[in-house]
Amino acid sequence: MPTPPVRVGVVFGGDSGEHDVSIRSAATVIKALSDPGNRQSFHVVPLYIDREGRWWPETIARSVLQTMAALADDQLPQPLPARGLRQLPVDPDQIDVWYPVLHGPNGEDGTVQGLFTLMQKPFVGSGVLGSAVGMDKLAMKAAFAAAGISQVPYIAVDKADLDDPRRLEPLLQRLEAELGYPCFVKPANLGSSVGISKARTREELLAGLKLAAELDSRLVVEQGVMARELECAVLGRRHLKASVVGEVRFDADWYDYETKYTEGRSQTLIPAPLPGDVSERIQAMAIEACRAVHAFGQSRVDVFYDESADRIWLNEINTLPGFTSQSMYPTLWGASGIPLPQLVAELVATAQE
Ligand SMILES: Nc1ncnc2c1ncn2[C@@H]1O[C@H](COP(=O)(O)OP(=O)(O)O)[C@@H](O)[C@H]1O
Ligand SMILES: [Mg+2]
Repeated sequence: MPTPPVRVGVVFGGDSGEHDVSIRSAATVIKALSDPGNRQSFHVVPLYIDREGRWWPETIARSVLQTMAALADDQLPQPLPARGLRQLPVDPDQIDVWYPVLHGPNGEDGTVQGLFTLMQKPFVGSGVLGSAVGMDKLAMKAAFAAAGISQVPYIAVDKADLDDPRRLEPLLQRLEAELGYPCFVKPANLGSSVGISKARTREELLAGLKLAAELDSRLVVEQGVMARELECAVLGRRHLKASVVGEVRFDADWYDYETKYTEGRSQTLIPAPLPGDVSERIQAMAIEACRAVHAFGQSRVDVFYDESADRIWLNEINTLPGFTSQSMYPTLWGASGIPLPQLVAELVATAQE
């Protein structure tokens, strides 16, 4: 008797700023799971989370995938339920493996992973701990520091420090003395460069702190480095493997939101033109980074490389990397000899390990 297909619940959309990217990532994942080579192995059940966090069944998910556009409130069945998850739009016993294709808060930060854990079902990607630590830049940096991984100097800032003039002045002095200019100000919990600014003066530093504080109460300020931006994909569970290293180049001072999402402003070089030993050090660092935050399944690890000093600094880990047909994660694996259909099959297999 042939083994029945694995029923994969692909959850996408979500109430984060990365809703639209998630739709495109899910379309890529589902196409790859439905590839002729995979069709016997997987039965895909797509589920859509709208921008208000409501979960919708397969019929609605399929129409979102068809138009590749979010559904507005008036396009959804009426009367609309309250915001947020009220009930699962599928019988959990009909799903063998959950596959979150969600980016940003609530999808990438351990929240939905907690739901799958409570259901006692396997799911693709990191668990609650790795997801939560990987999403929060301060928790992530603390974990990397504990593992002895090289990072640019940084200082954690609490929003409350900005509101108290007696604490603000010493804070600014400390940032200037220990980090200097230029420095980067970031909210701890976002992605896609949202809320990040580069500061070259005290005035810009204050403005950057205020901007970031509007988005998060936990902030990080980092010393600015002049470096190439390189990325490495990691796959696996008990055994983690690293892909070839890729590079992002852009015609801007730094990789800000506009540059990231404007056609033609950036290009990727895969594999990155690097001496072999540098690639190997980055691959080893990528795996160490996963271990440090307890990430597994899939992760994209981003590093800075200062060519003149031959130094590598870990920048960040993304435990639920973009997965559109153009995204770095699947492209790096393609260049490493793992085409998309095999990649998604391996990811489902890591969930079942
Ligand atoms: N310490 C730094 N030195 C130089 N450039 C930086 C630094 N930190 C961030 N950047 C620039 O800002 C971009 C976004 O920062 P990052 O920490 O990767 O945030 P996100 O999680 O939003 O991608 C980086 O790709 C890089 O171009
Ligand atoms: Mg980044």
